[in-house]
Amino acid sequence: MKIKNSVVFITGAAKRIGRAVAKDLAGRGAKLIVHYNQSDDAAKSLKKELEKAGHEIQLLQADLRSFQQVKRLSEATMICYGHVDVVIHNASTFYPTALPEVTEENWQDLMDVNAKAPFFLSQWMGDKMKRRGCGKIISLCDWSYQRPDANYIPYAASKAALTSLSQGLAKKLAPEVQVNTLLLGPIMWPDDLDETVQASVLRKTPLARCGKAEEVCAAIRFFIEEADFCTGSQLHIDGGRQIY
Ligand SMILES: NC(=O)c1ccc[n+]([C@@H]2O[C@H](COP(=O)([O-])OP(=O)(O)OC[C@H]3O[C@@H](n4cnc5c(N)ncnc54)[C@H](OP(=O)(O)O)[C@@H]3O)[C@@H](O)[C@H]2O)c1
Repeated sequence: MKIKNSVVFITGAAKRIGRAVAKDLAGRGAKLIVHYNQSDDAAKSLKKELEKAGHEIQLLQADLRSFQQVKRLSEATMICYGHVDVVIHNASTFYPTALPEVTEENWQDLMDVNAKAPFFLSQWMGDKMKRRGCGKIISLCDWSYQRPDANYIPYAASKAALTSLSQGLAKKLAPEVQVNTLLLGPIMWPDDLDETVQASVLRKTPLARCGKAEEVCAAIRFFIEEADFCTGSQLHIDGGRQIY
């Protein structure tokens, strides 16, 4: 599939990795539907910046913890350009949940945003893409679902669920729609992550550095433009973190 003139829907893309992906794809001629939740100012500044450069972008706000809002988001997305060619599940919630303190609310939040919302967005949009005869779904997951950090068990389980459901969707939506997963390692630190934790992560990363958002963009371009014979696959973009 060509990126130029394709309609790309990406969740949680006002900031950080999602923003970089949105700008990269817009720069190559995609028409964007950018979802955000709380980052209203950042989303509007992205729209302004891209429109000034002559690109097409629509913004949609939704809290992915709400099933009703997820459903409305899916319907609104289809109205923007009449169809979608590429769905990128980027939005995510991530925080430590020490075993003695983790609550049902934490569990629900992590599962709803990281697994349930992508599943139902894929159910609705995937069906439309399949009927139309082509489509790509790309899920941003985490290498650590395979060997969970003991302080992030519900987060790892939510990304395991997203990885697994992406493979199930790959079977169900084939051959028209290809569904693939990126397993990211350290790319952009959370703003509040301690420097000693950062150093310890890098000691366990064979390539001894953080990845760059552009390296995630390159993998996404690969899945959209080059990887028509890939579905249900998982690509590690993690500096070798999973083999340490
Ligand atoms: N950063 C890394 O090094 C790394 C490592 C491994 C995996 N990944 C994966 O790569 C993707 C991008 O990473 P990132 O660090 O750039 O992500 P991020 O900044 O942690 O989150 C991206 C966006 O998710 C949205 N989000 C969170 N809760 C939401 C909710 N309840 N409803 C709707 N949207 C919600 C937020 O949108 P608003 O700001 O608009 O509220 C946020 O800007 C994620 O899927 C992440 O799990 C990243």
